[in-house]
Amino acid sequence: MSAPFHLLGISGSLRAGAFSTAVLEALADASVPHATCEYADIGALPHFNQDLYVEPLPPAVARFRAQIAGADGLVISSPEYNHGVPGVLKNALDWASRPHNGSPLKGKPVLIVTSSQAFTGGVRAQYQLREALASALARPVPTPEIVIGGVGAKIVDGRFHDPFTIEFALNGFATMFEEMKRDTRGAGAHP
Ligand SMILES: Cc1cc2nc3c(=O)[nH]c(=O)nc-3n(C[C@H](O)[C@H](O)[C@H](O)COP(=O)(O)O)c2cc1C
Repeated sequence: MSAPFHLLGISGSLRAGAFSTAVLEALADASVPHATCEYADIGALPHFNQDLYVEPLPPAVARFRAQIAGADGLVISSPEYNHGVPGVLKNALDWASRPHNGSPLKGKPVLIVTSSQAFTGGVRAQYQLREALASALARPVPTPEIVIGGVGAKIVDGRFHDPFTIEFALNGFATMFEEMKRDTRGAGAHP
């Protein structure tokens, strides 16, 4: 049976071997069989410039926006840079956020995960992300914050390996899936 939901995974780090990307991949794997996941390439996006926000959109922008539109929900896994959202991730959200009341982000459930080498787990970036997503009329999933401190010690051979955190995060996925079911109830698209 095919998975009922389709997710778009967005890593807030472009670093090869990024802990955030390893976390994202581990959570996407753990969410099978409920969902399939494809990944965004936010490093390919140009710097946001409103002059470029005209048809035809830059190809990387058009692809990113189409990926969001085609997903039932987003999973963002990000580090924290200088107590905030990494610029590359904020840039991506800005590209996805227009027009304000009709963007691909509008109404989209978004599960936020932050991680850090520090025990604070990127929680400040998490709250900035919630603000930015609320501004874009997206729907941060109402679940206890998924913050991962000391993340480097939980990566083994490039894979995120922390069963407790994965189980905790899966509760957030379950809440997101419930929201998606409510979204489509009556439409017959999902069981
Ligand atoms: C420019 C920069 C700023 C950072 N600022 C913070 C910070 O404010 N809080 C924090 O917990 N870690 C901070 N860090 C450390 C990152 O959490 C750590 O490098 C993390 O592993 C990066 O994520 P990644 O492995 O997904 O690339 C910073 C790192 C960089 C490169």
